[in-house]
Amino acid sequence: MNKRKLIVANWKMNLNTSQASMLLHRLHERIRIHRDIEVVLAPSMLTLQPLSVQIDRRKFRLAAQNAHHKDEGAYTGEVSFTMLQDLVHYAIIGHSERRIYFEESLETVRDKVAASIRNDITPLLCIGETDIEHREGQTRQVLHDQIVSGLADVSSTDVKEMVIAYEPVWAISTFGGKLAKPSDIKPIFDFIRNQVKDLYGPKAAKEIRVLYGGSVDDQTARGYLEIEGCDGVLVGGASLNYVKFSGIVSSAYRMLNEKDDQSEK
Ligand code: PGA
Repeated sequence: MNKRKLIVANWKMNLNTSQASMLLHRLHERIRIHRDIEVVLAPSMLTLQPLSVQIDRRKFRLAAQNAHHKDEGAYTGEVSFTMLQDLVHYAIIGHSERRIYFEESLETVRDKVAASIRNDITPLLCIGETDIEHREGQTRQVLHDQIVSGLADVSSTDVKEMVIAYEPVWAISTFGGKLAKPSDIKPIFDFIRNQVKDLYGPKAAKEIRVLYGGSVDDQTARGYLEIEGCDGVLVGGASLNYVKFSGIVSSAYRMLNEKDDQSEK
């Protein structure tokens, strides 16, 4: 099975409508279509709709950064997965900023994953340990809990379509992150797939896509993309800079083309 590499831009709470439109325009100019690369943009809720009209769907897909787990009702200020259904392919769920700043619990994340699937939106479930948990050697326990609870209501058919992003919180710029070494990330990727294997069997563990979600830019992306079992990257700060983000996509492009060349030899 040949899985496409997923390069996701999380614009977080940045860019108004015209700035977002301009960034999309610049990315469109620089990014070329590759059959094995999927580029996903996660703009703010406000700009999803106008971007969905502007976007070249052969090049980009859209993701929501969050949504409410109920489909409708008296939840002032919220937007549901049901409302996003015809706008986005993906939804980022359980990002560390949501878990930490908005106190999203394991149960909330579980309910959002279920709501996303119920509404035909592919969940991009973020998991990761904080700096203290990392230093105290709790990484595997934290990831285990986040995986088991996040997937609690997911069927074995749906899990294969899902995406898990491993974002060590200590390696995210928001939290003063330092760069993680790809060699330190590889065993964690294996651990994540093993957890999925324990829950759903080897086929699901192979098919589920696992991304690296700590800080990356155009200089460092390839190191992570080359980790065996890494299906892509979730990019924060660098995704707001069209040179850096298109550079990350180009790294994936070059890597895949080199692999193609080698397999032809
Ligand atoms: P960063 O964010 O790239 O700005 O460190 C990464 C993330 O939030 O996943």
